[in-house]
Amino acid sequence: MSLAEIVIGIIVCICLFGAWMSSKMKKIYSLQGNNENSEWDKDHAISFGITSKWLLFIAITLLGGYIVYQKIAGTPLEGHTLEWMDLILRWLHIIFGISWIGASFYFVFLENSLDRNNPPRNELAGNLWAVHGGGFYYLEKYKVAPQKIPAHLHWFKYEAYFTWVTGTCLLAVVYYFNAESFLLSSDTEISALAGIGIGVGAIFFSLMVYTALSKTALLEPKNRPYFFIIMFVYLVGVAYLLMQVFAPRAAYIHMGAIMGTMMAANVFFVIIPAQKAMVFAAKEGKTYDTEIGKRAGWRSYHNNYFTLPVLFIMISNHFPTTFGHEYNWVVLAIISLAGAGIKHFHNVWERGEINKWIVPISILMLLFAFWFTAPESNNDAGSGDAVPFAKVKAIMNQRCTPCHSEYNSDDVFITAQGGVKFDTPEEIVKFKDRILNRAVITKSMPQGNKTEMTDEERSLLEAWIAQGAQLK
Ligand code: HEC
Repeated sequence: MSLAEIVIGIIVCICLFGAWMSSKMKKIYSLQGNNENSEWDKDHAISFGITSKWLLFIAITLLGGYIVYQKIAGTPLEGHTLEWMDLILRWLHIIFGISWIGASFYFVFLENSLDRNNPPRNELAGNLWAVHGGGFYYLEKYKVAPQKIPAHLHWFKYEAYFTWVTGTCLLAVVYYFNAESFLLSSDTEISALAGIGIGVGAIFFSLMVYTALSKTALLEPKNRPYFFIIMFVYLVGVAYLLMQVFAPRAAYIHMGAIMGTMMAANVFFVIIPAQKAMVFAAKEGKTYDTEIGKRAGWRSYHNNYFTLPVLFIMISNHFPTTFGHEYNWVVLAIISLAGAGIKHFHNVWERGEINKWIVPISILMLLFAFWFTAPESNNDAGSGDAVPFAKVKAIMNQRCTPCHSEYNSDDVFITAQGGVKFDTPEEIVKFKDRILNRAVITKSMPQGNKTEMTDEERSLLEAWIAQGAQLK
């Protein structure tokens, strides 16, 4: 039995056990819900019912997927199937992510924009009128809780959970299934398994660090600057370390996974339990420990600042000048800071205040990143001997066409990657600027330097392009 089989087996067992437990819990709560007028228990029963079905669904999908995989492994269908898994998961990840971040932005906006001056009733903290989609909306926020908790209370949580679940699956499909090609840096000695261990370990270790810090007084609003500095330094340190072992893109994505996991954990372990405690206390007429709610609110405040950096990391994949830079961890730190700064401006602005400095500073940071990542102008690149096209063609054939051709020869990348082919001289000339960017400036091609391109070859390509990319 291989390691993958053991892992799949364990996950399937956990899911089946969870599904069984949840359906038991559902029965217990629906019985209680019948006895008393407890809508709360009914809500719980519904919630457990959904959980149970989802866990069953995941177990069946995993088992089915494994059986199908056994049939197609080694055939051209394998790569095709992986691509479609990537597509579906990425799509879902974005859909859930948009819903989650959208709801999060919306509620921060509500909180910031409430009219707190003359609430119509004493029990209210504030209210807000809005117009959207051809209708008027009127919202009220309670100081604590309404006299009677309504039967139907909408909870925002599945967006967060499913963003995390789809993101984790995506990480596995894209970076762990083909760890040699995608996860590991081309010059590292460690094995695929060790690489995966480092990736997963970094995510969970960072979560522990963040959780431990969040339990201290550092979480309080007055200590926010210190919390921010400590977390920032910690995360930049982790980024630096990951860049040493991982392929640049994989290191970036892991930073996104680390922050995304902190965000999802804030929802799962802190925010939702606090809300449950609040609803429960209101139902039972007990006093609610407001400290719990306050701390949950502070955590949710962190999530708000994580959003823009995490969104950048999600799209960073497309921008080799960022992850392909020699000091890519510095680039990431600068762009993330700028993103958090812009989010801060946004928050302050929604409260009706204007912070004059934060946007110009954020823009300056982005301009700095633009400058920092700019290619060094190499004026004498073309000054040497004229590079004959035949030489360029030979380099491209050996180093690039395995993955960029009508007839790829690579074992993993079986179709022309990125839709780019270098079969004909015209195709090579057409892509000269991208070749310069990927193979010379950022050295992000060949992918993982799988075809072992040398620096001399990169310089030859550079010279040929500087000399006008002639077909002679
Ligand atoms: C081992 C496989 C592999 C090899 C070899 C390889 N590439 Fe790629 N290439 C990829 C993959 C995967 C993508 C899509 C992801 C991306 O854009 O980074 C890609 C995308 C590209 C793109 C399209 C995206 C863009 O930036 O415009 C260009 C251009 C490119 N490669 C150039 C090259 C050049 C030049 C070489 C040879 C020096 C090369 N590649 C060798 C795997 C490879």
